Amino acid sequence: MKKFKKIFIATLVFACIITLTACGNDDSKLKTDYMVLVNKESTLPEDWEERIELVDVYTGLDQTYQVEKKTAEAYAKLREDLFENDHVIIELDSTYRTVAKQQEIWDEFEKKYGLDYTKKYVAVPGTSEHHTGLAVDVKIVKEGKIIDENDDMTAEKEIFAKVHAKLAKYGFILRYPVGKEDITGYGSEVWHFRYIDSPDIAKEIMDNNLTLEEYLQK
Ligand code: DAL
Ligand code: ZN
Repeated sequence: MKKFKKIFIATLVFACIITLTACGNDDSKLKTDYMVLVNKESTLPEDWEERIELVDVYTGLDQTYQVEKKTAEAYAKLREDLFENDHVIIELDSTYRTVAKQQEIWDEFEKKYGLDYTKKYVAVPGTSEHHTGLAVDVKIVKEGKIIDENDDMTAEKEIFAKVHAKLAKYGFILRYPVGKEDITGYGSEVWHFRYIDSPDIAKEIMDNNLTLEEYLQK
């Protein structure tokens, strides 16, 4: 082979490798890590915003919420199943949050309930799972009335037992279960569901009363 031809082929191969690597990187950037762990110790990957697709979800209460695309699709199925088969109505209450929105919630809670309560139920801005777009807080509608206060929802044990029983089927887990406060770092939240995209793993977590922290440590 002539020297010129060899250099030409080598350059072409090099260019192809660069192109493929670049494409590979672009591709993986778009991939959402549905098992991502976000808690007080483990914060969100820096490029997270580039790796999720947020969609608008219109609720029956004429409000719009931003949710990660697959999470929104799974939530719609969960909601319909509960409505059709259990006569339970859930509605979105809080979904994707910017850091500024989380700060707003923190300030509101601190003013209303004090610092200790706020620390128990609200993540420090920048460390909330709501920044992922994969978390949804719900409220319930019972006998035409909206129940959205933390204590009132916790008291609705029968209704939330029905809701929790269906989470795994659609790839959701209960993120802050009762009795696991030392592991999750937060008080029990019957209303906060986290989408993990795998009904099988969600079932394993829910059946064994695990937290995401415990599952990922295994
Ligand atoms: N309520 C959860 C802990 C949050 O604020 O992200
Ligand atoms: Zn929440």
